[in-house]
Formats: sequence, structure tokens, C-alpha cells
Amino acid sequence: MQIRKEREEDYPLIHDMIKNAFKTAEHSDGNEQDLVEKLRKSSAYIKDLTLVCVENEEIVGFIMFTKNRIGETEGLSLAPLAVTPEYQHRRLGTLLVKQGLKLAKDMGYEHVIVLGNNKYYSRFGFINSKEFGIQSPFDVPSKNFMAINLQGKKNKLNAMVEYPKEFYNN
Ligand SMILES: CC(C)(COP(=O)(O)OP(=O)(O)OC[C@H]1O[C@@H](n2cnc3c(N)ncnc32)[C@H](O)[C@@H]1OP(=O)(O)O)[C@@H](O)C(=O)NCCC(=O)NCCS
Repeated sequence: MQIRKEREEDYPLIHDMIKNAFKTAEHSDGNEQDLVEKLRKSSAYIKDLTLVCVENEEIVGFIMFTKNRIGETEGLSLAPLAVTPEYQHRRLGTLLVKQGLKLAKDMGYEHVIVLGNNKYYSRFGFINSKEFGIQSPFDVPSKNFMAINLQGKKNKLNAMVEYPKEFYNN
């Protein structure tokens, strides 16, 4: 099993993999694979923080971190994360999140935002974003809107996350 940056030749396989993974997801709008394609073309895209998990020469996992704005600071949004159904519950999702957060930390990023299952993401250190004074622009349950400060700081930003437009028009 290998985790590496995505390559252009992976794009069609990633598209199909994400579509397949979200078919059985708890929450999905069915457009996650299209959001990825739009984000790749946007200024929010970070090639070094878009990773795939490869097993037996097949792409079985994907994670993307894109730039957002939180008040005066530049942060990251973790979305989407997907693992092929047949490969779920084997810690591939965990490895992708951990590797992505490590790279982002080394690149100097502070806040990463995720909208997702709080039980899943809390294991990586994500907490309710309100602890950092960070608000969601979306009408979502507070406990599912989470943040982490990769540099271990606890300062409050008192700001709402501004996502790239692709997140609003998807
Ligand atoms: C969420 C997802 C990426 C997890 O990937 P994974 O490789 O199966 O995760 P891991 O093996 O690292 O962790 C599995 C553990 O996480 C927990 N878990 C997995 N999915 C969960 C969910 N939706 N809610 C809560 N806990 C979850 C379980 O406790 C599981 O433990 P178990 O294997 O002992 O049952 C995968 O289920 C997936 O692709 N789902 C569809 C797409 C999706 O919902 N993405 C998340 C968007 S926020």
C-alpha cells in the first residue's frame, strides 16, 4: 500500500472511485467527484495536498485539502475523503488523514476545517470549530463543523470560513 500525490493520469480513476465510495455514504449530494474536478481548476487547489492511496496498482483512497480563508488567515478545508467500499475499515482513511495533516503541518498551515462525522474526525484531534471562534457559512449541526490547529495554537479567530466558490455552486 502506498500513499502518494495524485497524478494527471489518475483523474478518471479518482472520479469513479469517489462516486462509488459516496454511494453508500451517510451524507452525500452525489456530486463529490465533480467538486474535486472543479477544485483542481481553482486557485484553492494544492497539488502537494491531494493524495491517493494505491493498493495492487488500484486507486482505493483519496483525500483533498484546499485553501480557504478564515478572517485574516489562510486555512485549509479537508474535503472530500473517500475509500473504496471494499477497502473500508482497514485504516486507509486514517492513514490518508494522518499523512495529509502531517504534510500540511510541515507546510506551515495552521487551521484545517472539516465538515463530517465528529466521532471519526475527533480521533485526529479535530474539535468543534467554535473552540477556535470559527463559524460555518453553511447551516450544519455545530458538532459536525470541526477544526484543528496543526501548530498547536489555541488562539480564537472569531471569523467565518470563506470557501472557494466551487463549494457553494456545486
Ligand atoms: C469515511 C471513510 C473515508 C472512512 O474510511 P476507512 O478507511 O473505512 O476508515 P478507517 O478504516 O480509517 O476507520 C474506520 C473506523 O472509522 C469509523 N468510521 C468509519 N466511517 C465512519 C462514519 N461514517 N462515521 C463514524 N465512524 C466511522 C469506524 O469506527 C471504523 O472503525 P471499525 O473499522 O473498527 O468499524 C469511508 O468510510 C468512506 O469513504 N465513506 C464514504 C465517503 C464518506 O463518507 N467520506 C467522508 C466525508 S466527511
